[in-house]
Amino acid sequence: MIRASIISTGSYVPDTVITNNDLERIVDTSDDWIVERTGIRERRIVDSSQATSDLACEAARNALKKAHLRPKDIDLIIVATCTPDMAFPSTACIVQDKLGARHAAAFDINAACSGFVYGLHLVSSLIRSEAHKRILLVGAEVLSRVTDWQDRTTCVLFGDGAGAVIVEGTREKRGIISTHIHSDGSLGDLIMLPGGGSRFSCSMETILKKLHFIKMKGNETFKVAVRTLEELATRTMEENNLDPSQLSLLIPHQANIRIIQATARRLNLTEDKVFVNIEKYGNTSAASIPIALDEAIRAGRVIAGEYILLEAFGGGLTWASALVKW
Ligand code: COA
Repeated sequence: MIRASIISTGSYVPDTVITNNDLERIVDTSDDWIVERTGIRERRIVDSSQATSDLACEAARNALKKAHLRPKDIDLIIVATCTPDMAFPSTACIVQDKLGARHAAAFDINAACSGFVYGLHLVSSLIRSEAHKRILLVGAEVLSRVTDWQDRTTCVLFGDGAGAVIVEGTREKRGIISTHIHSDGSLGDLIMLPGGGSRFSCSMETILKKLHFIKMKGNETFKVAVRTLEELATRTMEENNLDPSQLSLLIPHQANIRIIQATARRLNLTEDKVFVNIEKYGNTSAASIPIALDEAIRAGRVIAGEYILLEAFGGGLTWASALVKW
């Protein structure tokens, strides 16, 4: 039996740091409020020359280098993003060109913050069916360009970044064991970016109404996130006949420290079994899990032969998990 195995990871965040104190000078907020309600202390944002594909390429090059692979060794590129460079060509095609990955097909997927884990679901099937041999999956976002910097209820939350993984088949008893994806479109209005698509195409009116910025009902989103992620994590373990105590690390989407702690409590996981970097980057949407995975590996917290659980929640609404035996 062939399983999909993550053979390399890479990540990139832009150099510019925006601290909570910086935000205090822009909107009516405080470092104490942000830290207490979200766990975020600072976030990274792009400079004026950078777009999502630039971040994606940095993360991808990093992953390729660690795997001693060349761009032409990749046969498929998938970029998970809700902030593409433009509507089309896809960010994945732009990445393919910039990397020089001339043997790769390329396309984007959008499941908002769950995009990377949705991507793992897809990649796992494509590798197991032997449709592709070696896939580059990137989660990359430039949320700072769709953030209303005058709206304190959202601007404190988001940041920019990218994370990448390279996935191949293995016949060993490890790799991506199971993936679980879910959606509820009836709750789409809880977090959305309405402007710029075919419903509200760019116009003076959409700009004046600020429809090109993220709109979020934070408190309602929070409650659904806690409920669905607790259920999802528990069910993922049950369906694999595993007890949560057999997990060596939970790598959750970094949206809010209180959401992360609620899932950890439900699984009875101690702090050392939960990877958290939200204080440095905020919510980087589809980039958050691959950045966290890359950092966790570099910190020696992902151990060969052990189980890790990845789980995400985002606009759509969407939520997803992946159980991996490293
Ligand atoms: N600084 C200071 N006060 C703020 C603030 C800020 N940045 N943002 C909101 N407030 C105020 C609100 O105006 C409200 O004031 P009021 O009581 O006078 O009306 C008060 O703080 C409480 O607001 P509320 O929205 O109930 O806070 P909360 O505890 O739910 O925390 C979030 C807000 C956004 C941090 C939290 O709801 C959250 O993280 N939601 C999930 C968001 C998310 O993860 N989205 C992405 C999904 S992938």
